[in-house]
Amino acid sequence: MKLEALTLDQCEQVRIWRNAEMECWRTPFMLTKQMQDEFYEGCCNRESPHRYFALVRTTDDPIQGVVPESGFIGMGGITYIQWENRIGEITLIINPVERGDGLGEKAVDLLLDHAFNHLNLQTVFGECYHCNDAWEFWGDITDKYDSPNTIQTLLPKRKYWNGDYWDSTYFSIDKDDFNKIHNSK
Ligand SMILES: CC(C)(COP(=O)(O)OP(=O)(O)OC[C@H]1O[C@@H](n2cnc3c(N)ncnc32)[C@H](O)[C@@H]1OP(=O)(O)O)[C@@H](O)C(=O)NCCC(=O)NCCS
Repeated sequence: MKLEALTLDQCEQVRIWRNAEMECWRTPFMLTKQMQDEFYEGCCNRESPHRYFALVRTTDDPIQGVVPESGFIGMGGITYIQWENRIGEITLIINPVERGDGLGEKAVDLLLDHAFNHLNLQTVFGECYHCNDAWEFWGDITDKYDSPNTIQTLLPKRKYWNGDYWDSTYFSIDKDDFNKIHNSK
């Protein structure tokens, strides 16, 4: 898998996945194609405080190295970047029919490597509501680090969904902790 520039067509595909899982998102609001096109124009450019990517399947070719296959696996990004504080929020969605095969975990590694070693951020944080089963996915990711700088915590009543208030897992991942585990810079 690798990160590539996100296209408008891929962004439209993500809109359809996103609209089917409103419990996952901060704003449970259905998006139209026009809204998604505006999001693409406004957010997927260098001036915005967001960096969104297509997650694309790759094959290892002995001559060419890693070549992308056509498969679009999902979209991920680092959003709401505060350059002065070197901090940003991680976001991720994997094609619903491709979940459970380790692609999400691989995508997080690629996004964190990009955030820390290309964008030069020091901290990546995120939040996952407990009405979304995937909150355990993020817990597993931060559990890999044994450091006071990479932690998760529970915040109460962060989301109203389906008649109830739901807690969230809020987490923070540190560049040095990530690079120590991944033997990067
Ligand atoms: C969350 C998401 C990215 C996970 O992607 P994925 O490809 O299914 O994840 P992986 O297969 O890499 O799973 C890695 C580990 O997390 C666990 N996990 C993944 N999704 C889980 C879930 N819904 N509930 C519990 N555990 C989960 C897996 O069991 C796996 O653990 P294991 O290695 O012990 O088997 C995917 O479910 C998704 O796109 N969800 C909708 C969008 C979303 O919720 N985004 C996050 C918003 S905060």
